Amino acid sequence: MTSSSSKSIKNICVVGAGQMGIGIGLVAARVAKLNIQFVDSNPDQVQRGLAFLDSLLIKDVTRGRCTEDERTEVKSRISSAPSISEMNTADFVIEAVSENVQLKRKIFRELSEKLPQETILATNTSSISITKIASAARWPENVVGMHFMNPVPVMRLVEIIPGLQTSGDTLDATLELAQRMGKTTTMSQDVPGFIANRLLMPYINEAMVALQEGIATREDIDTTMKLGTNTPMGPLTLADFIGLDTCLAIMKVLHEELGDSKYRPAVLLQKYVDAGWLGVKSGRGIYKYE
Ligand code: CAA
Repeated sequence: MTSSSSKSIKNICVVGAGQMGIGIGLVAARVAKLNIQFVDSNPDQVQRGLAFLDSLLIKDVTRGRCTEDERTEVKSRISSAPSISEMNTADFVIEAVSENVQLKRKIFRELSEKLPQETILATNTSSISITKIASAARWPENVVGMHFMNPVPVMRLVEIIPGLQTSGDTLDATLELAQRMGKTTTMSQDVPGFIANRLLMPYINEAMVALQEGIATREDIDTTMKLGTNTPMGPLTLADFIGLDTCLAIMKVLHEELGDSKYRPAVLLQKYVDAGWLGVKSGRGIYKYE
């Protein structure tokens, strides 16, 4: 046995307390009833994230979906540490930092230096090669892709992606953990964008091209796709929700790794990111937010 089995998983570490990390931590603590430690070097980010997590628990108490005791109990199993060197040991780590391959490789190197060999190291990357991230770790057989969708507490899917060296034990434990978290899983090859973003990002990018070419207003592009294909958000609203910087980073991975001009990022997408218009999180993207 080279990695933890799902039944022995009790302590999870989530690296990165941004919107994805916080959502993953909440579901792991609330649904799978695991102990969670967030690792993030930015204390403001951790404080904001934990306050948001608590606001979701309070809403559930208000709506009668959770008792006050359960809220206290879930919170008692959540802690944080400012760095990997100061974190507690963990059976399973889920990395959820921004889409930067060098940063992710550094984190995986540090994690595998700090933690015992049997710890499984999962990355929530939305497009970067699992094999490339895994090669920075001491035991690449224990590294796997575990791609959650945003907002994590609401979305039912997790894509599981084995890298070239991922072991069968690691894969089995990851599938079981996702099920314990109440998620449905799909399995993808380790290819740029996996399944979800290979299909979703060219769609969002094409909506940016349509806007850039003046085919229609942003509202008409969104309304056409929202009402015409029965999706909760039109592509431009969804792009703002995901973050235009994230959309651009994923398009760049698709374009560079697959080498096909059909994945070239829209000029307007690059321009908005250059302007700091990143979507909901920066108060302005394709739309303005108060
Ligand atoms: N975190 C946790 N819960 C959230 C949330 C968040 N960030 N945002 C909304 N919710 C919850 C709300 O609290 C609410 O829950 P309750 O019913 O329990 O009260 C529920 O979601 C519905 O929210 P609202 O009523 O406020 O709004 P809505 O009905 O318009 O739904 C939405 C909001 C769930 C975000 C919906 O618009 C939606 O499903 N949008 C599409 C999301 C999507 O496509 N996600 C995938 C993005 S791609 C991705 O994640 C992959 C990647 O790598 C980029």
